[in-house]
Amino acid sequence: MSLSLTAPAQTAPSCADDGVWLECIACGEQFAPFEEIMYTCRACDGLLEVRYANPPTFEEYGSDGRVPDAPDRGVWRYAASLPFDEGVSLPEGDTPLHKAPRLRDSIGVNRLRIKHEGMNPTGAFKDRGMTVGVRVAKELGVDRLACASTGNTSAALAAYGARGGMETLVLLPKGKVAAGKIAQASLHNARILEVDGNFDACLDIVQELAARGEVYLLNSLNPFRLEGQKTIGFEILEEFHADHGHYPDRIVLPVGNAGNTAALYKAFRELIQAGSLAPEEVPKLTGVQAEGAAPMVEAVENGADAIRRWESVETRATAIRIGNPVNAPKALPGIRNTGGTAVAVSDDEITAAQRDLAGEGIGVEPASAASVAGLRKLRSNGTIGADEDVVCLTTGHLLKDPDAAFAAGDDPEPVPNDTEAVIEHLAE
Ligand code: F0G
Repeated sequence: MSLSLTAPAQTAPSCADDGVWLECIACGEQFAPFEEIMYTCRACDGLLEVRYANPPTFEEYGSDGRVPDAPDRGVWRYAASLPFDEGVSLPEGDTPLHKAPRLRDSIGVNRLRIKHEGMNPTGAFKDRGMTVGVRVAKELGVDRLACASTGNTSAALAAYGARGGMETLVLLPKGKVAAGKIAQASLHNARILEVDGNFDACLDIVQELAARGEVYLLNSLNPFRLEGQKTIGFEILEEFHADHGHYPDRIVLPVGNAGNTAALYKAFRELIQAGSLAPEEVPKLTGVQAEGAAPMVEAVENGADAIRRWESVETRATAIRIGNPVNAPKALPGIRNTGGTAVAVSDDEITAAQRDLAGEGIGVEPASAASVAGLRKLRSNGTIGADEDVVCLTTGHLLKDPDAAFAAGDDPEPVPNDTEAVIEHLAE
């Protein structure tokens, strides 16, 4: 399979711009990065990846084995492995890597850290991709940005588009997007189209619109989005290493379109190429999907090279209600070549994990809690050992989906407007 963990370093082809080029992961065709708008390979329609002749070491990011002070952190700290030095920024990245000791004890692993991407400016990891994607859009001179979305991408696109002074259009599956996300897209001035179909149908349409030149596509099919998202991997590895002197054994993450899985795998491969990470130190990428939307889990379990599109998908974790993960050709090698796996969890397991995280003070939306639900399941069935150091990625903030939070939490108790009555009520 393509995209091996230890591919040799390449020299920049003549089409490269400042050491950066696009390369097809299927046929290897190489393209100039900013000469024309291209989302997939012109020769074979395979997925494109952004390539650099010399990916930097951790030292070259200026860390010297330490995590720098706050003003120097975030996505653009890693500019040496991004296509530009700065972008349209709010700013993004530098999210907390929480300890969660009670959860660690109840699940039974050696170490547990929670990388809470819900602490980004719009409340989800998407901001990391958008800061780069919108910068590229400016380079290409496009004026209308668009995406299909289960909600978070639309919120990020709207906010970063607004920041960059650009027009935005978002296609959402009708009735299946959490309230906080639509509110964000709306207030940040995106034009919102509600499609009578699921996310995959929305993505089909917006890809058509992009192919016809109506819009610039900023879904994670756009290889530049994943460049920003790979900084999640850099931050996890750097901070975990600074605290513990080695890298985590495993990173567990929710999977929808499989963009993050692909982006983390790319971060690892670049660090191996640079010499900052040994192949045997690479964390096992472990993907979690909802039982009602689990084509990646199906492919991993069957040892398949490609996913089968699920036409009908359902889960309470609407952010990952996706049946056709477009980044599967990048993400499946990532899971396999790192020795990871994939697992499906039920909606009730997701809600239980959302409560568990909330009990540590970490507020996440349902899709995010899937990572912790998956860890618990894989630990219970012995796939994950008690001696492992694990990082779970939580991708979106609790307030993204207030209805799910209300449903998972306890109801408010009505009391009279009287102190004595309140004390009596408390004693009941
Ligand atoms: N978690 C959250 C909160 C998400 O919003 C998404 C994807 C994922 C996980 C899955 O990440 O696609 O990289 O595997 N949301 C997209 C959206 C699809 O439109 O907001 P992935």
